[in-house]
Amino acid sequence: MTPPTSSSTVTLNINGEKHTLTVDHRTTLLDALRDRLDLTGTKKGCDHGQCGACTVLVDGRRTVSCLQLAVASEGREITTVEGVAEGERLHPVQQAFLDLDGFQCGYCTPGQICSAVAVIEEHAAGWPSAVTADVRPEAGPPPLNTEEIKERMSGNLCRCGAYGQIAQAVARAAAEASTEKLTEETTV
Ligand code: FES
Ligand code: FES
Repeated sequence: MTPPTSSSTVTLNINGEKHTLTVDHRTTLLDALRDRLDLTGTKKGCDHGQCGACTVLVDGRRTVSCLQLAVASEGREITTVEGVAEGERLHPVQQAFLDLDGFQCGYCTPGQICSAVAVIEEHAAGWPSAVTADVRPEAGPPPLNTEEIKERMSGNLCRCGAYGQIAQAVARAAAEASTEKLTEETTV
């Protein structure tokens, strides 16, 4: 009997570029990014889905890439920390982390930044969190206060304990995003 194949060739769409590679079926998206494609911004912490260091965006949703197989990522839009800036212009979340010291050693930072980008979008889209008091759709998004930010970012651990500055950076980037949206709406 022919043994089952253990590898497949996949095309991954990462940061707007297509990459074709042959991977063992057990290869995680995280290992494909780091070891095969040299996209080492995404970090490996626990490799067990517990720390958030490996967070990337898959079709805009936060995903721990250590628990996602590379072969299951074909056809999805993957954004890593290398892809969140617009050319030379940092993403507002990146700028806020820099300006407000949202890191110490920086190891968790790529995952925190990817997560924060999605948190701001999830919140703007009206998604409630576990600490949202009024979850009725008509109540609209709750204020993105420190409690909300900490809950929504709770999947991203920081061994340096830079949580206070991280929350401030997320709050500033969220405020900027909502001002920008308001300006766009009023100038249309
Ligand atoms: S390395 Fe993926 S969650 Fe920790
Ligand atoms: S800044 Fe060091 S682990 Fe978060």
